[in-house]
Amino acid sequence: MKVGIIGCGAIANIIASRIVPEDNGIDIKYFFDKDIERAENLASFAGGVAVLDLDKMLNDVDLVLECASPSSVKLLAPKILEKGIDMIVMSIGAFMDKEFYTKIHDIAKENNAHIHLPSGAVVGLDGIKAVADFNLEEVSLTTRKSPKSLGRDMDVEEVLFEGKASEAVKEFPLNINVAATISLACNQDINVKIIVDPKVDRNVHEITAKGDFGEFKTITMNYPCSANPKTSMLAAISAIKLLKSFNETISVGL
Ligand SMILES: NC(=O)c1ccc[n+]([C@@H]2O[C@H](COP(=O)([O-])OP(=O)(O)OC[C@H]3O[C@@H](n4cnc5c(N)ncnc54)[C@H](O)[C@@H]3O)[C@@H](O)[C@H]2O)c1
Repeated sequence: MKVGIIGCGAIANIIASRIVPEDNGIDIKYFFDKDIERAENLASFAGGVAVLDLDKMLNDVDLVLECASPSSVKLLAPKILEKGIDMIVMSIGAFMDKEFYTKIHDIAKENNAHIHLPSGAVVGLDGIKAVADFNLEEVSLTTRKSPKSLGRDMDVEEVLFEGKASEAVKEFPLNINVAATISLACNQDINVKIIVDPKVDRNVHEITAKGDFGEFKTITMNYPCSANPKTSMLAAISAIKLLKSFNETISVGL
């Protein structure tokens, strides 16, 4: 499977350094970034090709892995899917725009392309998906991050946001993709609280869900990526596992 990456930052660097062709024949061949130097650096490290012209990538790949920004998804995904090319999208917040979601769904369907949204920086999505249609009464996410990862400077804990996921992704487009992922998994605009906490050095996500099945709570305490403290290691790792899983004969879990 030939893969092209859009966005050569923290996530792309982790993925490109951990995937080898022996992993189910995954060949990460092309690298595109609005900052060409980043694309060139990663391409040279991974033995791939940096491209200035996205079409050069699209003419040769089976799958595009987006790890750039929600605006890049809105700009580039229609063109990619129209060519029937599958996508893994990391900037999942883009899908909270209902109009965009419908448009992109229809384009993918018409062109027999698939969009994969990895579970990213959070655990518990298997449970959320399983119970989504069984009177899931309440789902909420509380995210706790360090001031550094939110670009703030403060000494005391503060609630930065309390409201719906759709609003959270507008206010913090690069910080709260997990809220979008959970919302999409259960088809609800979930309740989100974002706390900036000078006592933590991890990105902590706590999910609670209640419904006819009972209830559960998950807590994920992520190490941030050194290259980008907004981003958790687990986000990149989940995309690696997703890529490797495409050719599995026996799949475990959802
Ligand atoms: N799904 C999740 O759980 C999850 C977790 C963490 C991060 N993310 C998202 O994944 C994306 C990548 O995260 P990261 O930490 O690697 O970011 P990063 O800032 O380290 O790297 C992003 C790269 O994308 C490039 N870029 C941005 N917009 C572009 C565009 N329009 N065209 C081409 N290149 C562009 C930038 O120049 C940069 O090199 C972000 O949108 C982030 O919010 C998702």
